[in-house]
Amino acid sequence: MLKQIKSDIYHLLHPKMAFFLTSVSKNDKPNVMTCAWATPVSEEPPVVIVCVSKESYTAELIKQTKEFVINIPTKKLLGALWICGKISGRDTDKFKRAGLKIIKAKKVKSPVIDGCVGHIECKVWKTVDAGECYAFFGNVISAYADEKYMRNGLWTKEAEIPLHLGGARIVYFR
Ligand SMILES: Cc1cc2nc3c(=O)[nH]c(=O)nc-3n(C[C@H](O)[C@H](O)[C@H](O)COP(=O)(O)O)c2cc1C
Repeated sequence: MLKQIKSDIYHLLHPKMAFFLTSVSKNDKPNVMTCAWATPVSEEPPVVIVCVSKESYTAELIKQTKEFVINIPTKKLLGALWICGKISGRDTDKFKRAGLKIIKAKKVKSPVIDGCVGHIECKVWKTVDAGECYAFFGNVISAYADEKYMRNGLWTKEAEIPLHLGGARIVYFR
């Protein structure tokens, strides 16, 4: 029997990959938050959307500098993923708190997170007010992945990428 779903309707669309979304302020101060709401929307040109709460510091920064980086982690970074998803970078250095090392990105000022297996650097070309979130449409400027975990353009099961089911539940891509 099909049961009517009245709350957390979005859980029907999970699991979704949980990743680190990095951004930067006008004066080059970086931030990171955990994000799961993202999707490709165009292959040619390559465009992705990230959906970010209007209340987050990340939304403020992306609106300021119009860029972001998607950093895809493995199981090893699960602890950091929770930390970056629970506290705001407004008054905390989350990189330090979560023990994350940053590296310079190739084409944008937002940093890349060391130990992640895939990165998508984006410049925002359109922002849509989507209710409680902004949907930031990002033109993909550069994308690269660890060849140990991505073969022939596909993730291998060794990558063990965290997939968010909802709430505190994570499963792994295997
Ligand atoms: C697994 C997981 C997935 C999340 N996905 C999103 C998301 O897709 N969009 C969003 O706005 N917040 C999401 N969050 C919540 C943000 O990470 C959280 O509000 C964070 O503290 C914002 O940080 P900031 O204020 O430094 O930007 C998620 C949290 C977790 C733990």
